[in-house]
Amino acid sequence: MSAISKIDLWQVLDSRGMPTVAARVSIGEKSANAIAPSGASTGAHEALFLRDNKESYAGNSVRESIANFTEDVLPQLIGIDANDFAELDEKLRHHDPSQTFSKYGGHIPVAITLAAWLASASTKNAEPFSVISEHLHSTPALPLPMVNIFSGGAHAGGAIDLQDILAVPVHANSIEEAMEWVWLVREATKSLLSKSGHDQSLVADEGGVTARLQSDEQALQFVTDAIAKAGLSGKVAIALDIAATQSFHGDHYQIHQAGDVKNLSSEQFVTRWSKWLDIYPIISVEDGAAEDDSDGWQQQSSLCDRIQIIGDDRYATQNDRLQNGIASKEANTILIKPNQAGTLHSALTALSTAKGANWGTVVSARSGDTEESWLVDLAVGSNAGQIKVGSTHRSERSAKWNRLLELSHFATAPYIGKAALAHIKNLNL
Ligand code: PGA
Ligand code: ZN
Repeated sequence: MSAISKIDLWQVLDSRGMPTVAARVSIGEKSANAIAPSGASTGAHEALFLRDNKESYAGNSVRESIANFTEDVLPQLIGIDANDFAELDEKLRHHDPSQTFSKYGGHIPVAITLAAWLASASTKNAEPFSVISEHLHSTPALPLPMVNIFSGGAHAGGAIDLQDILAVPVHANSIEEAMEWVWLVREATKSLLSKSGHDQSLVADEGGVTARLQSDEQALQFVTDAIAKAGLSGKVAIALDIAATQSFHGDHYQIHQAGDVKNLSSEQFVTRWSKWLDIYPIISVEDGAAEDDSDGWQQQSSLCDRIQIIGDDRYATQNDRLQNGIASKEANTILIKPNQAGTLHSALTALSTAKGANWGTVVSARSGDTEESWLVDLAVGSNAGQIKVGSTHRSERSAKWNRLLELSHFATAPYIGKAALAHIKNLNL
């Protein structure tokens, strides 16, 4: 039994300089910390990041939510077994029963449950990933990375509509080779942008390059050309995070093209990006329709045999929303973000449901992230298959890649590579 003896909560800053919460969970002499990440393109169904809306940090402080939680809930958590993720989840939900943790916010439960996991690993002298694999009865594996190359949307001041154009080093045989390939693609993208007169020094929230271009298509062409310039055509593919919720305005989508604004219906919006599949080497599309646009999601179901269709805002790492998606066959993969679920247990539940349905799982960081690397242990221990943490650049991103490279160096687990995409029947690689 590893009973929680103490919990400390305090305010720190994330990679965007925004206040967030850090938790330290102590089990006797042992302890571990975890910090809650936060998104910019957040969905309506994810656990709430509750800010104080008072004067401090222009409304962005979380000190008041920490104080309220510390007084009302924290004492009830002392004595719980830190290794009993389900019990901790149940206690937290008892005090804040709404799915989105609307009373105290989900940022505190996620930090506490992650710190409890890490503290419990420390008491066992175990690597964090092995505690996860014990819980899930899974075989650890190093995931296939999905790495941000070009950013737009909410992560780059709307430079283009697409939020992320990512590189997937499908045919790399090791994580070392995979990282070098995506690094080469990023460098080639910068060089091509610079040659066509764009400022190549701009860096977006997740470390991707960015430029104010005429259209999404122009950016896609830059990245496709960069893959070719790096000599990696056919070896590195493209993944998109369309983050369509951001472009949805009640009953239509709005896109920008050569200075013009165009309104599109759900059907027109999905048809527009579906056509890109014949032009660019795209193998994965995330949030290709807005979170509650069921018509748009249904339209994607016919593509599930051909590419990876990922739900991020659509499922918000919530098990019941995922189950609806599985039943309707509208997608084949879920993005797993622990802070969307609000607790580690809930995130693992959604991950297990997806795997049970033979769906793909992509463990993901947030655009406002931290120097911590537990996300990698989560992906490795659960054998999630894929991981998405942004670019190779910026320390909060490289902290994750470096943990993955550390686990690889010590031959902790095999690299899964393109087998991570086995859930897509007719993937053209
Ligand atoms: P977010 O972006 O953290 O700003 O939500 C990441 C994503 O949409 O996948
Ligand atoms: Zn997303």
